[in-house]
Amino acid sequence: MNIIPMPAILTENEGKFHFTDQIAISSNPEAKSIALWAQKFLQKSSGFPLPIENTVKEDSEENYITFLLVSNSANIKPEGYKLRIEPSRILIQAIDLAGLFYGFQTLRQLLPKEIEQNEPKNDIKWKIPCVLIEDSPRFSWRGFMLDVGRHFQPIAQIKKMLDQMALFKMNRFHFHLTEDQGWRIQINKYPKLTEIGSKRNDTKIGGWLSKQYRGQPHEGFYTQDEIQEIVGYAKERFIEVIPEIELPGHSRAALAAYPHLGCLGTQMEVPSKFGIFHDIYCAGKEETFSFLQNVFDELLNLFPYTYVHIGGDETPKKRWKSCPHCQQRIVEKNLDDEKDLQTYFVNRMFNYLTSKGKKVIGWNEILHPNLNPEAVGQWWIGGKKKIISHLRQGRKIIVSKLTQVYLDYNYVMTPLRKTYALEPIPSGLESKYHSNILGVEAPLWTEWVPNNTRFEWQVFPRIIAVAETAWTQKENKNFQSFMTRLTAIYQRLSLMGIKPATIKNVNPKGIKRFLKMPSIGKWPLV
Ligand code: ACM
Ligand code: ZN
Repeated sequence: MNIIPMPAILTENEGKFHFTDQIAISSNPEAKSIALWAQKFLQKSSGFPLPIENTVKEDSEENYITFLLVSNSANIKPEGYKLRIEPSRILIQAIDLAGLFYGFQTLRQLLPKEIEQNEPKNDIKWKIPCVLIEDSPRFSWRGFMLDVGRHFQPIAQIKKMLDQMALFKMNRFHFHLTEDQGWRIQINKYPKLTEIGSKRNDTKIGGWLSKQYRGQPHEGFYTQDEIQEIVGYAKERFIEVIPEIELPGHSRAALAAYPHLGCLGTQMEVPSKFGIFHDIYCAGKEETFSFLQNVFDELLNLFPYTYVHIGGDETPKKRWKSCPHCQQRIVEKNLDDEKDLQTYFVNRMFNYLTSKGKKVIGWNEILHPNLNPEAVGQWWIGGKKKIISHLRQGRKIIVSKLTQVYLDYNYVMTPLRKTYALEPIPSGLESKYHSNILGVEAPLWTEWVPNNTRFEWQVFPRIIAVAETAWTQKENKNFQSFMTRLTAIYQRLSLMGIKPATIKNVNPKGIKRFLKMPSIGKWPLV
């Protein structure tokens, strides 16, 4: 059975369910939204009428696909489901709507691949193998991050990605909305953020070693209505959207719009090249904090979820070292140094956001003995030693290790097998702390991702490996099996209009890998 992610328990039984125009859908009233979802999805490719009944009759009812939201007592875990396919009927049970939704995604993968087509074709025999599946996720955080700062990404591409995330049971979309090279969200109180900060004159192309530029301006931002449209689309797919406003670094676009928020206060452009910039928000000026708080006030109205991301990575301290405001803050607050000033900065934002009922995430550079223990760390770089000590103190961590799940590298640097091999729980961590690992998230940074073709080549198939790592129990993971299932699923991706990297190129080995190493800087399509 070509199911990804691999379910926890799968029993194959005799026989097939025949999905025909005689089939109907039933659900209890609580599960109606999922019944409607299934109806719409299945009608599109089969053309069958699929009437819905909002009562569930006897357990043995024939010719129905039934969705049942049951109470806690049913021995099913959150987001988990039980899927029973018999020759005469299909039953999906869960204790939450997400579980029913995921049960349906599994059913979808058991149907012939043409179920992904956009219109009915007559000649398909829709047979589904009889199985009993009991399934639930290993981790509650199964994420994908998209950087829309370096290259603005159209809403259609984001929705296409959210569709894929749903198919593979991923549930967190981390929306990296601000960068040095572009501010991408409308903030009514600060119109220059988008009037100035969402535009740049040019863009470096060809990779880190190149000196070439595209020779064209680049711009784009999402209105608040568009943000709500994306959040709504994700919600229908049980995906929470986590907004990120980068601070104090990666903030050149904001400083181009409002230069007084920097230490120097001088006018500067939205940069056309990539990297780490010295100009960051001034930690000594009160205006910086009132600005960021006002930005978050508008933002929090658009994202109805608990988690908010405040960045915190790659923050050079050069400007803070020579800024009278920042130095005065260090003295006033009795801080050790500029590193401690960053913790002050992060804690202050943390306190503000916590007062609004939010939980805060930051990249692992924010981890510091004085950081509030409730702040969640996103582990992208550095060894496990420090991370383990934080986990032992009770801190929650999301795993995004650069060497394995960063989707912006090519397949020479990060072959699919290396991504698949990620084990999120660091070895040496005692089992009582394992639950402090919330899960896994794969970022796509878009310095060199100017279009959909490149986007899909970078993301697929590695994101599918990440989805399996995040969902499937460790002992049920197997790379050989994954490759077989993946090869089958490629036909579906094609029907969905996704163009992944070719299977034969995603696991370069030995000499071929080394021969291609020198071209890493050019990011070749291997
Ligand atoms: C990062 O990649 N700078 C979080
Ligand atoms: Zn300053």
